[in-house]
Amino acid sequence: MAREFSTVGVVGLGTMGAGIVEVFARNGIDVVAVEISEPALERGRATLTGSTDRAVAKGKLAAADRDALHERVHFAVGLDALHSVDLVIEAVPEHLDLKQRIFAELDRVCRPEAILATNTSSLSVTEISVATTRPNQVIGIHFFNPAPVMKLVEVVRTVVTSPEVVADVEALCARLGKVDVTINDRAGFIANALLFGYLNHAVGMFESHYATREDIDAAMKLGCGLPMGPLALMDLIGLDTAYEILDTMYRRGGRDRRHAPVPLLKQMVTAGLLGRKSGRGFYTYERPGSPVVVPDEATPPATEAALADGARAIAKVGVVGSGTMATGIIEVFAKAGYEVVSVTRGAEKSAKVCEAVKTSLNKGVVRGKLSEADRDAALGRISWSATLDHLADVDLVVEAVVEELSVKKALFASLDEICKPGVVLATTTSSLPVIDVAMATQRPADVVGLHFFNPAPVMPLVEVVRTIRTSPEATATARAVCATLGKTGVVCGDRSGFIVNALLFPYLNDAVRMLEASYSTADDIDHAMKLGCGYPMGPFELLDVVGLDVSLAIQRELYLELREPGFAPAPLLEHLVTAGYLGRKTLRGFRDHSHR
Ligand SMILES: NC(=O)c1ccc[n+]([C@@H]2O[C@H](COP(=O)([O-])OP(=O)(O)OC[C@H]3O[C@@H](n4cnc5c(N)ncnc54)[C@H](O)[C@@H]3O)[C@@H](O)[C@H]2O)c1
Repeated sequence: MAREFSTVGVVGLGTMGAGIVEVFARNGIDVVAVEISEPALERGRATLTGSTDRAVAKGKLAAADRDALHERVHFAVGLDALHSVDLVIEAVPEHLDLKQRIFAELDRVCRPEAILATNTSSLSVTEISVATTRPNQVIGIHFFNPAPVMKLVEVVRTVVTSPEVVADVEALCARLGKVDVTINDRAGFIANALLFGYLNHAVGMFESHYATREDIDAAMKLGCGLPMGPLALMDLIGLDTAYEILDTMYRRGGRDRRHAPVPLLKQMVTAGLLGRKSGRGFYTYERPGSPVVVPDEATPPATEAALADGARAIAKVGVVGSGTMATGIIEVFAKAGYEVVSVTRGAEKSAKVCEAVKTSLNKGVVRGKLSEADRDAALGRISWSATLDHLADVDLVVEAVVEELSVKKALFASLDEICKPGVVLATTTSSLPVIDVAMATQRPADVVGLHFFNPAPVMPLVEVVRTIRTSPEATATARAVCATLGKTGVVCGDRSGFIVNALLFPYLNDAVRMLEASYSTADDIDHAMKLGCGYPMGPFELLDVVGLDVSLAIQRELYLELREPGFAPAPLLEHLVTAGYLGRKTLRGFRDHSHR
């Protein structure tokens, strides 16, 4: 029978500890909550009160249950208060020597049968355990932030953790309503090992002015459906904690340069910009501890201001191409009130595109999202052509032809001859350098990338790519157009993968490497990212949807352009593609889809 835990201790009531106290107390378990000093104890108590009051205000917790919850928590300064608890979870700052000291002390204070657990994100549980005389009763219980919300717990066993202790802790997680994955002691476990390279890369993008904080965060939220952008997440985690996690992962995890903390992080930590907890990190918050972002000197002006920034007036738009993207883009522009000239390579293709646009608009009518009159008006705004000459009087051209540089360059050279001066020429390429396309014209200042996501009528994000030759007016125009389309346009530099793919695919590739190393299973890795980080899909689900061949091609390009050894495609990914296991489209990828 599983061991009964009636009282647990929590050491350190910061970002994580206060949340962990709440999780236990909510589930009827008495908690001894310990801090290092009276002021720190008061801060922890205030965090718990704030969180439970918010839950009551939102109707998620009855006032009486809140009061009962608080009665279960006993606050104390110093570890001596933990003499009779059944289990302790330590959540002090991420420093090995500090944690070792605390575990040696806990070993002395706690009952001999008590389990001692650490909430460390990246340090070795084994190294922490040897500071005690009971390493077989030491385990990692890694909660996710915010602990009361996130469903996942990573249970970390060392080579000496006793199997009974693992089973008891797993049963406890179930009692707390959490889903646990049990894994061995490796830097970053599952979720952080996959998350922190990505977060650090995003900080690097920000540091190098590749894109603004708002645009990096919007890109990942809207392009991948993540609950928050990477920089907002860094602020939530705490920059000091994030720094320590990266630093440890770098040292323990094979000195992967992608985990070497970006220099800006250290500077921000030194300057006291720790994120939400200090009221300022990448963003500025109402007050320390508040989740509410307030404008600061880096907050960009509202999108309408782009018009004042020299954006050109756009009324008529040409869309070149007849594939999935071109079809979606034609619909998006026509629905937003633009006059659209569609150019394909022949009347037959035009007829097909026209049919596809009609079908899609009709679906909108059936679903009640579009009136019949609006559908007819949108269709009425589109003219169909098989010659580029009809683009002589448009204000903007969006090219969405095959992803081949020679074809795109030839097309842009023709557009250069046909289009009037001042037109913005945009390519939807997702992988080719926009500057190559721009230099095929005599007007590179007017060329931008407009990277729509598939399906264009649905996805709310567009990456606006400016090359080193793009004029501020062309960028402002592209951004203003995105706003008129009801999309969020994020501006970034002309580098492989832009923002979204550059941040997404290395993470997917890392997940494949983790599977390849047999550290965990595809199911557990998918669970960890969905339940620990709130991702809409796990990496293997997503890879099977996107297509393994497409993912491999993107990863190869990132590797070739950035020469980052950590970006080299995982051999397992290459092998699956060679074997023809491409994902859902071939009914087999990481998973077998033939029976679903
Ligand atoms: N922040 C996250 O998102 C996150 C997520 C999961 C795990 N973790 C891990 O949880 C642990 C705590 O991180 P955090 O972000 O909550 O840190 P934090 O800085 O927000 O809080 C740490 C708390 O520990 C207290 N403390 C320091 N020394 C102490 C001592 N000797 N005795 C008692 N209390 C002491 C501090 O006063 C502070 O309140 C770290 O190991 C971290 O890696 C963090």
